[in-house]
Amino acid sequence: MQFCILRATLYADKMRLNIVHPGADELTYEIREIVEVGRELERMGVPILWENIGDPVAKGEKIPQWIKDIITKTVVEDESSFAYSPTKGLLATREFIAKMRNAEGGAQITPEDILFFNGLGDAISKVYTYLHKTARVIGPNPAYPTHSSSEGAHAGSHHITYALNPHRNWLPDLEDLRNKVKYNPNIAGILIINPDNPTGMVYPEKVLREIVAIAREFDLFIISDEIYANIVYGEEKMLTLSQVLGDVPGIAMKGLSKEIPWPGARSGWIEFYNKQKDPLFARYAKSLVDAKMLEVCSTTLPQKVLPQIFSDARYPAYLKSRAAAYAHRADIAYNIFRGVRGITAPKPAGAFYMAGVFDDGILNGHQTLPIVSEEVKRFIEQKVSGVSPDKRFAYYLMASTGICVVPLSGFNSNLHGFRVTLLEGDEVKFRTTMQTIADKIGEYIKTI
Ligand SMILES: Cc1ncc(COP(=O)(O)O)c(C=O)c1O
Repeated sequence: MQFCILRATLYADKMRLNIVHPGADELTYEIREIVEVGRELERMGVPILWENIGDPVAKGEKIPQWIKDIITKTVVEDESSFAYSPTKGLLATREFIAKMRNAEGGAQITPEDILFFNGLGDAISKVYTYLHKTARVIGPNPAYPTHSSSEGAHAGSHHITYALNPHRNWLPDLEDLRNKVKYNPNIAGILIINPDNPTGMVYPEKVLREIVAIAREFDLFIISDEIYANIVYGEEKMLTLSQVLGDVPGIAMKGLSKEIPWPGARSGWIEFYNKQKDPLFARYAKSLVDAKMLEVCSTTLPQKVLPQIFSDARYPAYLKSRAAAYAHRADIAYNIFRGVRGITAPKPAGAFYMAGVFDDGILNGHQTLPIVSEEVKRFIEQKVSGVSPDKRFAYYLMASTGICVVPLSGFNSNLHGFRVTLLEGDEVKFRTTMQTIADKIGEYIKTI
């Protein structure tokens, strides 16, 4: 009794056990974290131009009426939107997807190889959570943070990466990839994001085939996040994982958030390729289905309308027109940033992002931009204390101009730079925003 009282007094502020997951520190998502700073600035009277979030709808893109009509017609059917769906997803939808995939002529799948999730974010989280504790997946640097954070958290240590080279159009450094795979026996899989977020790079066929060859040589599986697969506008032809992986086990990740675009539907799915070729891969795939079963299923309505939308004759033309708009904005931004000393910003070929990297050593901890309000200035000076050099730039840019970009270091990267989106539909506003960023880079790197 006495001991209990003494213990309670001594450890009053302590949990009985450490309840913090060993990977807790890996969970970061700068794309949204920077919003908090932006909101504070808004409260101080700085109007913010949100260039951070990849949500076309939030940026004002209009969903075609015919898509809305399909959804509104379907939503009133009780079983379509109010009922649970099967754990893997509606059978008719999975049959539709399997047929569409098999027509591409690559790895063949059945509806049983498809598993729906509540958005790809849910899929990404489960794919890493249910990997064996010591099995690692190597991914690109810079990386979309949901992948790098979830993978790092699963393993309780930093995500392992291969470099994307900004001086070679963001192409992956295959020698780096090969060496890391070779000398790290815990690597069990390779992640590619194709087209890539944050760089807009589309993996060329030759590169994809070399990655597949590395996976085959070392008995790895491949994950290909293809959420932007239908938003491609560069010279590079987009090839999906199913078209190049041959007999290597693989997972493709697809979704509705970006291409309909319908991020609020929270709907995405994964496709397992060559499950039958490896019993461990098949067992792992089953564990993902079992994990989803514990949750019962994923959102029903988006699955129900997917075949109707994807098979509509207007859909390809709609995607084409959106891709053309991004291509045009990519040209504008590329031509603006190309003239700026101190940064490299390759032209994106897919998705709707563009990333610029500062030259080595050009940033320091003293550079600033003019800020009119004393209150805002004091706030930002306090916020930049101890942050990475590109975050410092992003904070000053936001306080000085209201433009909110994401620092590249927030993409689990050792590179310092920024990511912008190509989502602004008002061309004058888009040009002005990009030009302002370019001008401010010039101003910023001049200050010592
Ligand atoms: C590469 C990539 N994968 C997955 C996601 C998450 O998509 P969802 O809205 O389906 O969760 C995003 C969102 O920005 C993304 O850029």
